[in-house]
Amino acid sequence: MTNTARATFGGKFGVLMATLGTAVGLGNIWRFPYMCGAHGGGAFLLVFILCILFLGLPVMITEFFIGRHSQRNVTGAFDVLAPGTRWNLIGYNGVITSFLILGFYTVVSGWTLEYMFQSVFYSFEHKTAVDIKADFSAFSTDIVRPLFWTLMVVLITQIVIMSGVKKGIERSAKVLMPLLFVFLLLLAIRSVTLPNASVGLRYLFEPDFSKIDSAAILSAMGQAFFSLSIGMGCLITFSSYFGKNTNMQETAFQVNIISILVAILAGVIIFPAAFSFGIQPTAGAELVFITLPNVFAQLPWGNLWAFFFYALLAVAAITSVISLHEVVTLYLHEEHHISRKKAAYYVSFAVVILASISSLSLGYLKEYTLFGLTFFDFLDYITAKIMLPLGGMMICIFVGYRIEKRILKAELTNEGTIPFYFFNSYAFFVKYLAPVAIALILLYEIGVFKFLAGLF
Ligand code: TRP
Repeated sequence: MTNTARATFGGKFGVLMATLGTAVGLGNIWRFPYMCGAHGGGAFLLVFILCILFLGLPVMITEFFIGRHSQRNVTGAFDVLAPGTRWNLIGYNGVITSFLILGFYTVVSGWTLEYMFQSVFYSFEHKTAVDIKADFSAFSTDIVRPLFWTLMVVLITQIVIMSGVKKGIERSAKVLMPLLFVFLLLLAIRSVTLPNASVGLRYLFEPDFSKIDSAAILSAMGQAFFSLSIGMGCLITFSSYFGKNTNMQETAFQVNIISILVAILAGVIIFPAAFSFGIQPTAGAELVFITLPNVFAQLPWGNLWAFFFYALLAVAAITSVISLHEVVTLYLHEEHHISRKKAAYYVSFAVVILASISSLSLGYLKEYTLFGLTFFDFLDYITAKIMLPLGGMMICIFVGYRIEKRILKAELTNEGTIPFYFFNSYAFFVKYLAPVAIALILLYEIGVFKFLAGLF
């Protein structure tokens, strides 16, 4: 594999939109409201924002450094930067994490396709909140329908991956990401004008610090990593396609801010609506799917709105699926010399099997649990709350201790042609603050401190 053969994204807007295509997805619109609802609202939002700015931003810049500097896939990157060492285990962690995330992410992406389809053929109009909830449970616990849509998601992904990175990802993201944003804004306006909306807004924006426990902090950190697509090398793979003149600090900053904004917008849509229709914010993974149809039912041409919304959400989801799939495919292609096409087929096949099990675990295989979680929840928990933070910590340690500061700075300033005003603070964060903070949060949740306290 020669590096000259690698595609690059064109232009500043293309780079930003392609990165947003990866980062913005179900994590912001489906997972954020559900996590925020499960952990008490406002205080969670606050901790989430802090995690994005103080952990997410430095980790993202660091991944960009690794990717563009090495121009390689997730494991190869470490072999280039630290030849002959085991640092590439960070890359293997990334490959496995991508695969496990795909195991539940493709299922939820499939749900968005089902809802897109439903908005054409059925009407949400005369349904009550109770019917809408019953419909979702009937659907998600069904055997065939969710599997069918999951298969569609993987098929679409396979096609895009085969047609090449630049054409596939960049072109679709450039048009659809801005459109999704506009749609979210319009829906937010509808939602805050519903009766009782202020209760939902207060829930989202008034922090109740008594709700902040170690589980909430871990969830907020996991959500920050998940939502930014960091901690497993997805952005290493992506930035390996960046051009040498891409301003990576600026890109990272913009992606962080937009990711926060989209999550807040999703919250502004979901919580007022949930309170208005009497849906518990703690409803879990189904929160978005049982809340939004109620909003559409209240809109003139509700089904048309619903169709466009779910279509855009499906695209946002699928662009993220592509980025996860690409990590594993590129690894197989570059490291094991399998053709791109073949590698993509292998990955798709394995993902369909994993996703089928996780989809069935919500209904038919519900009794089979791991650590008290369904397989679906288990995949979500172990990836977002453990593997991503662990990967992010290792990435920081690697760059903090193994890479010369001079090289780091040269890459991040495009060989000194753009300034990096906070370089020293950034380097301090990467070397000390981020690894220590992540380690403390992880250890705390595992209960190490409670255990130690019990000893004395
Ligand atoms: N960030 C995406 C979202 O919010 C999901 C995603 C894509 C992701 N690639 C990732 C999450 C890599 C973690 C790691 O929907």
